[in-house]
Amino acid sequence: MGKAEADRAGGNGFPPGSGPFAGSGEAGKGAENSGVVRPERRFQDDDRDLSLRPRTLGEFLGQDAMKKNLSVFIAAARERNESLDHLFLIGPPGLGKTTLAQVVANELGTDLTMTSAPALDKPKDLVGILTKLKENDVFFIDEIHRLKPAIEEMLYIAMEDYELDWVIGQGPGARTLRIAIPRFTLVGATTKAGNVASPLISRFGISCRFSFYEQADMEAIVRRSAKILRVSIDDVAASLLAASSRGTPRVVNRLLRRMRDFAQVEKAPSITREVVVQGLKRLEIDSLGLEKHDREILAVIINRFNGGPVGAETLAISVGEAVDTLEDYYEPYLIQSGLLQRTPRGRMATSLAYEHLQSGRKAGGGASLF
Ligand SMILES: Nc1ncnc2c1ncn2[C@@H]1O[C@H](COP(=O)(O)OP(=O)(O)OP(=O)(O)O)[C@@H](O)[C@H]1O
Ligand SMILES: [Mg+2]
Repeated sequence: MGKAEADRAGGNGFPPGSGPFAGSGEAGKGAENSGVVRPERRFQDDDRDLSLRPRTLGEFLGQDAMKKNLSVFIAAARERNESLDHLFLIGPPGLGKTTLAQVVANELGTDLTMTSAPALDKPKDLVGILTKLKENDVFFIDEIHRLKPAIEEMLYIAMEDYELDWVIGQGPGARTLRIAIPRFTLVGATTKAGNVASPLISRFGISCRFSFYEQADMEAIVRRSAKILRVSIDDVAASLLAASSRGTPRVVNRLLRRMRDFAQVEKAPSITREVVVQGLKRLEIDSLGLEKHDREILAVIINRFNGGPVGAETLAISVGEAVDTLEDYYEPYLIQSGLLQRTPRGRMATSLAYEHLQSGRKAGGGASLF
């Protein structure tokens, strides 16, 4: 299955009626219409991102420790002319898991087949893919925490023994056939490592945990993307944009595009600090890179639950989100920024959250806008 086909099969990676904004009613619609930039995948936008997607480890900026190790493992596998060990990618949306899978295949000089767990409905879907792979190819499964049990069982044998159990016939006359498949590298990506079964995790020889990108790396990503999009951006503007993008390359690329729109319409010769300050204000993104909904989540904890602790379910209902969305898409960055704490008794707003919302109110926006 090629990438386009996998994307169609997997859609945006969420089945209809689920996903980040499922069941979130107005909150979802609001975000959809307001042009607000969210880290999760809108795959139309990622299609446009194709030109921005790094193709080699050299172009893949940041995540240095992970990259250093990977380049050794890749070089060693190439030297031995063997498949790279199976690779497990963990991290919040938009940090580069899919990108890294493509980079790995490129660096190995092999082909890449992509799919996502929800697209693997029947064992025959998996058999169809695995039997078409070539020796040392890379097979990428996105959202690997959503595999069906029957598929997962099959994958265990495929990963370990490079064989498949294929059942022929039905009832008492059924026979199991073992089919040998090429030695391949499975790259599994997830935003929810906690939901992946341990027998599956233990079959991955290499594990990469993504962290939010450092400011310097984010600036380098903005500059690289601006160059590819052929738009000029001042250093101060690049640094401000990088600081307001939640340490997430997908977000910084989207914001860069929006700033390009603002600059173009306002006939600014380049993206300046002024364009970015005004642009972020219009998108209601504050100095920490929080959007309106992030601030609403903090405000609900502070105002309605006295700062917490409040359970994830209660909080999710109060802000009109699914628990999964709250946990996968909103909390990681709020926690990383020191605004939210996850405790055994529930979520708590930190003193930094109080200060941040207060400084916003003083500025008159309900948000700390520059
Ligand atoms: N290290 C990087 N350097 C430069 N750009 C990057 C890097 N990582 C990601 N990007 C950019 O960010 C975009 C989003 O990355 P990607 O789609 O790989 O994220 P993801 O982790 O797979 O997200 P999801 O969990 O939603 O699938 C890419 O299209 C790419 O342009
Ligand atoms: Mg992805």
